[in-house]
Amino acid sequence: MIKPLVRILALILVSFSLSLSANKFEKDWHTYSNYQDVVTTHVILDLDIDFKTKQLKGSIEHHLKYAHKGVQELILDTRDLDIHKVEAFRGGKWTKTTFKLAKRDDVKGSKLTIVLPRMTKRVKVHYNSRPEASGLQWLSPIQTAGKKLPFMFSQSQAIHARSWMPIQDTPAMRVSYEANIHTAKNLRPIMSAKNDPKWHENGDYHFEMPQPIPTYLIAIAAGNIHYKKMSKQTAIYSEPELLDAAAAEFIDTQAMIDATEKMYGKYRWTDYDLLILPPSFPFGGMENPRLSFITPTVIAGDKSLVSLIAHELAHSWSGNLVTNATWRDLWLNEGFTSYVENRIMEEVFGKERAVMEQALAYQSLKEELVELPKGDTILHIVIEGRDPDDAFSGVPYTKGQLFLMFLEERFGRKDFDAFLRKYFDDHAFGSIDTKSFTQYLKTNLIDKHAGKVSIAEVNEWINEPMLPANSPKPTSDAFTNVKSHMESWLSNDVSSGNNGLSKIPTKSWTVHEWLFFINNLPKDISLERLNELDSQFKLTQSTNNEIAHAWLLLNIKRDNPVINKRLANYMISIGRRKLIVPLYKALLETESKRAFTQDIYNKARPGYHPLAQGTIDALFDGKK
Ligand code: BES
Ligand code: ZN
Repeated sequence: MIKPLVRILALILVSFSLSLSANKFEKDWHTYSNYQDVVTTHVILDLDIDFKTKQLKGSIEHHLKYAHKGVQELILDTRDLDIHKVEAFRGGKWTKTTFKLAKRDDVKGSKLTIVLPRMTKRVKVHYNSRPEASGLQWLSPIQTAGKKLPFMFSQSQAIHARSWMPIQDTPAMRVSYEANIHTAKNLRPIMSAKNDPKWHENGDYHFEMPQPIPTYLIAIAAGNIHYKKMSKQTAIYSEPELLDAAAAEFIDTQAMIDATEKMYGKYRWTDYDLLILPPSFPFGGMENPRLSFITPTVIAGDKSLVSLIAHELAHSWSGNLVTNATWRDLWLNEGFTSYVENRIMEEVFGKERAVMEQALAYQSLKEELVELPKGDTILHIVIEGRDPDDAFSGVPYTKGQLFLMFLEERFGRKDFDAFLRKYFDDHAFGSIDTKSFTQYLKTNLIDKHAGKVSIAEVNEWINEPMLPANSPKPTSDAFTNVKSHMESWLSNDVSSGNNGLSKIPTKSWTVHEWLFFINNLPKDISLERLNELDSQFKLTQSTNNEIAHAWLLLNIKRDNPVINKRLANYMISIGRRKLIVPLYKALLETESKRAFTQDIYNKARPGYHPLAQGTIDALFDGKK
């Protein structure tokens, strides 16, 4: 008699706490949706990819779960969508229901309010995206590697999913999804879901993502996309022109998965594939689950830039499995991921390389910190009223990573690893905000090892600007060597003709040592010295995109016109924001270079992603 009652009570409790789990956190400022009243648990997309009109057209079906009684409307996020019709499923059939699309807000988009007839469990919205969708890029054939067929892809983080589907666009909740995608027969769509590597001759594809994910991880791409398997869990998707080079460059991806599983527990997403995008992809990588999106600019031929893969893979734990509940908490995604990335690099490529990568990141963070507004140097940043993209910086990444390195130092690797592994398990397929994390850290680490770290120290890391005095300060012995060679060369008399450069053992230098060398040349280095370096090492012509970036940037700052042609080529052929934005910034600092820069931008802009265009337009307008 008692047992069934207990069971029913337990069930009610479980479903109550599940349905309200999104409510434990600070409200996400960046959504209009009423996710605290009713949530979508599953969506079914049915979309045509129309390359001619640059639109996705079709419908999205939402399966709903209510947090409490009396909910009469469903509020979704949209931006620049045309909404044609909304239906509710009742009494076994779809019937029209009313909706209202509000005026567009520059940051949040347009709130879509749908009237929910009583007990509606399913709602379907018929819509299309517009060519200017902030989360989609439509490339003409000329912008691809093959030059013959068009290409499109989505980039939804942070709040761009709403520009291609009406959805509750907040990382505080999760959906599983299915999609039926229709495209031209010679173009293959793929999604951040279970992917069937076979080409479907009829152009109709079905995708399923059974694990619940936050909406910013729903992703789609289509183009002349081919497939090459690398190992039991990994494969490359890309245009055929890049397939072999990418597979050779990223062959260690399986070893990275194995190493991460040993440290932080099972990889929970079955396969891990990489989609190599055309060079206009605005990021280095994007951790879309099961299918990270990757810039081709890291295919260097020598695996020197594969920490990017370690990073996107690391998100399969930090970010995709345990997600920041609001965009204020981005450091919980990116800081943890930068830390895990570096641990993976240490496991697979050794301590020396991992430490060099730490030291480079630490150096660039220090340079960035003095430039940023004070408030933006805080991990738990305030971004109400701002687009999360505008607050983007190295702070959540490297300051976040340094905080975890600090904890590792104090508690010891063994205890810290155990803590992190348990953290991922305890929050798997959930979200967390900074306040809950701090509480969890206190209970599970700080209180268990009394006297090692104080709450005041934790608060300083999370809530205060700049870096605490107790921050780790990674340095690399290899870099110390590079520095002493550099100094002895610089102390030679340049006019003597005996330049001494040939004495530096650069033959054995890694890309990281080169980056350190270039980044640490004196800020006022003479053109003579720069040209001496260039004639010896051909840096302007470097095919390593990171080295080329560092070198071009230094030469812009020193007004060296020798690089101009290469600079123009670089900026026109690459759309990755991290590589081009600093170049535009440096160029625009000198008024006399404005016409030159404008000329490059006129040529480059049509090939850039809308996000990159937005950032650089703002630079020209003097907004940043
Ligand atoms: N998730 C990010 C990209 C991102 C962050 C997009 C915030 C939109 C908003 C991705 O994992 C990332 O961090 N990419 C980095 C690479 C990394 C090695 C630091 C990038 O694109 O440069
Ligand atoms: Zn990341």
